[in-house]
Amino acid sequence: MANVISVLNPKGGAGKTTLAIHLARALHLDNNKVLLVDSDRQGSARDWNEAGDGRSGFPVVGLDRPTIEKELVSLAEGYDWVVIDGAAKLEKMIASAVKASDLVLIPVQPSPLDIWACDSLVEMIQARQQVTDGIPSAAFVVSRAKKGTVLAREVADAVRDYEFPILHGSIHDRTIFAKSMIDGATVLDDEPEGAAAFEIRHLLKQIMEAFA
Ligand SMILES: Nc1ncnc2c1ncn2[C@@H]1O[C@H](COP(=O)(O)OP(=O)(O)OP(=O)(O)O)[C@@H](O)[C@H]1O
Ligand SMILES: [Mg+2]
Repeated sequence: MANVISVLNPKGGAGKTTLAIHLARALHLDNNKVLLVDSDRQGSARDWNEAGDGRSGFPVVGLDRPTIEKELVSLAEGYDWVVIDGAAKLEKMIASAVKASDLVLIPVQPSPLDIWACDSLVEMIQARQQVTDGIPSAAFVVSRAKKGTVLAREVADAVRDYEFPILHGSIHDRTIFAKSMIDGATVLDDEPEGAAAFEIRHLLKQIMEAFA
């Protein structure tokens, strides 16, 4: 059975697609069989894949009806990892992704307001955990942090109000993230030894430890 990670946040522009694509590519570069599911009708992950003419080396499929958990039963067969890029707003789509997942990552910009905006998602995940013996697990990932800023105490406090941990190390706001994706690549391809690639690998290491 594939491990399923979804990247969810009802807030638009939180960095879901960027994180989902980079995690999928990092897993692929580690010799895993990866499927990236684009659950957003905007189709950004599919656009990225087309821009690169499939150079990413793993399939990107669109599932934009709220039946992801059912469709993955057969679709995920033969894969080690499935990464789901979440939709903004559509409550049913997000609920379906939660049901399909072993782990939910919640990218948030480092502001208490952005963390509080995840209230309904946190409640949805916790309700699911109660009927499934704790699956999916969930963690926050700080995304688009401004360079040179440390995680402010207010942000740490806001996250502590929820039971979910915050992964160590942020994804900073770096032009290379957007730039590398224009032609269907990632920072791992364009600057594999750069700071942005390091951030992604550092996050992935913690995720792998959570699954170990
Ligand atoms: N770490 C980053 N550094 C710089 N730019 C970023 C970073 N993460 C995301 N962006 C940019 O911010 C915008 C929103 O990011 P992205 O599309 O990943 O968010 P999203 O949560 O998937 O949005 P939506 O809710 O619309 O699907 C994009 O233009 C993207 O290139
Ligand atoms: Mg998106």
